[in-house]
Parts: sequence; C-alpha cells; structure tokens
Amino acid sequence: MLNIGLKSNIVILTGAGISQESGINTFRDQNGLWHNYKIEDVATPEAFQKNPKLVLDFYNERRKHLLAPEIKPNAAHFALARLEHTFRGLVTIITQNVDNLHERAGSENVIHIHGELLKSRCNHCQIVSSIKDNIEAESLCQHCHQKSLRPHIVWFGEEPHYIDRCHQLLDAADLFIAIGTSGMVYPAAGFIRHCPDATKVEINTEETAISHLFHKTIMGPASMKVPEFIDFLIDL
Ligand code: OAD
Repeated sequence: MLNIGLKSNIVILTGAGISQESGINTFRDQNGLWHNYKIEDVATPEAFQKNPKLVLDFYNERRKHLLAPEIKPNAAHFALARLEHTFRGLVTIITQNVDNLHERAGSENVIHIHGELLKSRCNHCQIVSSIKDNIEAESLCQHCHQKSLRPHIVWFGEEPHYIDRCHQLLDAADLFIAIGTSGMVYPAAGFIRHCPDATKVEINTEETAISHLFHKTIMGPASMKVPEFIDFLIDL
C-alpha cells in the first residue's frame, strides 16, 4: 500500500491518454496522430513558414473535432474536478493537452503548458484570443488587424508555457500523479525529477518510459482507475 498521509499540495500531470476515452486520439499509440502526420510537416514553426495552409488545416480539423457534440469529458476528468473542489489543500492540473475537457468537467486550476486549441495568437501583436472558427491565412487579428494569426499551440522547438510556475508547484508537491502520458516529451517528462518530496503515482494503460521513477504505477484505463484512486484519496 502507498504511504500517503494528509496532503496539502497535489500536482497532477495529464497527457493525451486521459482524453482518449472522450474520443480524442493520442499521439503515439496505434493510430495516434503522429502515425498519420509527420511532426515536421504540421507541428513546427518551420512547417508553418513553409506551408501555413497545411498547418492551419491540421489544427482547424482538430478544433472542429473537439467542438463536435460527441466529444465530452469522461469520468477521469470529472474525478479530478471533484478532487479539486473537495480537497482542503491545493490541487493543480498541469496538462499537456490542448483540449478543454478539464475545464468542461469543472476543474479551475489548470495550467496548459502546450497551449490551447480554442485560442489563437497574433504573431504581430502577440495577443491571445478565444476562437471557435477556423484560422485561415487571411484571417485578421481583431486587435491589430494584421493577417498574423496562428494557433495558440506550442510547436516542437518552441518553449512550453508556465514552466517556472510548474517547477515551483512541483517543488512543493507532496503528491504527484501522472495520468495518460508516455513520458516521451520534455520538459513534462522530467517533472517527476522536480518533486523530491512527493509520493509519485502513475496511471496508464501500459508501462511508460519513466514508470521506474514512480512509487506506483496503476495500470488501466483512466476513466476507471482515476475515479477509483481519487475516491481513495478523498477517503484518507
Ligand atoms: P502520447 O500519445 O505520447 O501518450 C499517451 C499515453 O496515454 C500513452 O502512454 C498511453 O499508454 C496512454 N493511454 C492511452 N489511452 C489511455 C487511457 N484510456 N487511459 C490511460 N492511459 C492511456 O501523449 P502525451 O504523453 O500526452 O505535444 O504526449 C506528450 C506531447 O507529445 C503532447 O502534448 C504533444 C505530443 O507531441 C505537442 O504537440 C507539443
């Protein structure tokens, strides 16, 4: 059994696996996005420079899919929201996901380190705006009226967002939970080394590249294993 006492600072890292049962493909599993698209074609600043239409269409398609009526938060997202609202200490979700399923489930303290699909950013004035429609090469920024919009997504070769804040939270964490992430992409894959005092738990359908660094890996689908684990925490 895990030695988890009364905790005051819980940090949860989520990845594509938590949204898989909501109908959003992961990146590296069979049929994952990176099996059907090349990262260098759609997810780098160079790709955007070379073929903006291809990159914009890729994210337009993903935005449209996220907004489809069948895409909804699942039991894992709802369990994390319940934890945040029941637990007397601080609960922070650091997510690599660009969907809005944590927020739609009711989580409020969510840090998006890889950006958000439902936001655009202007390359000219840098203002970030909410967006539901497609971004086209001709789309005008509402603020500076330049044709300089891009998805508010962190591409390979760019700095993820809020990393200093994440390191502060991790440093003070006494429980770190990683859910549905392969541990292949840094800096998120290295967060486990930034929480020296935390009990570290992983929830995943399979072993990952960093499973050996956790105190415990709970194996199974997030929609089942996350609510079970959260119930256990709330009862402590
Ligand atoms: P990956 O696709 O690399 O990994 C998904 C993980 O979720 C795998 O370890 C699966 O075993 C696990 N998984 C799949 N279905 C699951 C389920 N139902 N329940 C629990 N676990 C499940 O996705 P990430 O680790 O999120 O970055 O990828 C990290 C980053 O790489 C992404 O944010 C994205 C990508 O390139 C950018 O685009 C910048």
